[in-house]
Amino acid sequence: MIVPAEQALAFTQEQPQDAGAIEALLDHAFGPGRFTKVSERVREFAEFRPEMSFCAWDGGRLVGSVRMWAIYVGGQPAMFLGPLAVLAEARKFGTGGDLVQRASAAAQAAGYPVVLVGDEPYFGRFGYSVAAAKDVRLPGPVDQRRVLVLGASDLTGLVTA
Ligand SMILES: CC(C)(COP(=O)(O)OP(=O)(O)OC[C@H]1O[C@@H](n2cnc3c(N)ncnc32)[C@H](O)[C@@H]1OP(=O)(O)O)[C@@H](O)C(=O)NCCC(=O)NCCS
Repeated sequence: MIVPAEQALAFTQEQPQDAGAIEALLDHAFGPGRFTKVSERVREFAEFRPEMSFCAWDGGRLVGSVRMWAIYVGGQPAMFLGPLAVLAEARKFGTGGDLVQRASAAAQAAGYPVVLVGDEPYFGRFGYSVAAAKDVRLPGPVDQRRVLVLGASDLTGLVTA
């Protein structure tokens, strides 16, 4: 049973043994189209950063995940956030927000701005801005209104490895 209290969840840095549960959660949250997204192209070449990636657990059950990846934007080091997913029955208790804030804080503490592809009405509340991302280019088709940046206003150029 999912408890409706975000404080009851345990948050951990992602470990190698979490990968199977995370794949199942991402299939549940995004469906079969998940691999067609431009973000997946970025994740194919970016270096995974488990120390900035977090899991939310209700007992032994994974209810949320966020991942972070090392990229460059026009040659400047940055992090790429995503995917972010919360189990449908565990949503709207703040878990997604907690995961975003943990991953973002870890990246910023290490001195990196963060880029993601997502909805500004959701990610804007955590400081992500479409205006700051206007000169950031993804390696494939994307709605530029969904490219968001946290922690920099001068990122310019193509996202690369
Ligand atoms: C997006 C997601 C991670 C949010 O998880 P969550 O634990 O419900 O997040 P929070 O509890 O912090 O926030 C919930 C609030 O955000 C809102 N919200 C969720 N997705 C939103 C979106 N795309 N745009 C605007 N608002 C959104 C909810 O309606 C809710 O609003 P309320 O507080 O007024 O009720 C979850 O809905 C999910 O896994 N969705 C499917 C995968 C996805 O779209 N991932 C994000 C794309 S990178």
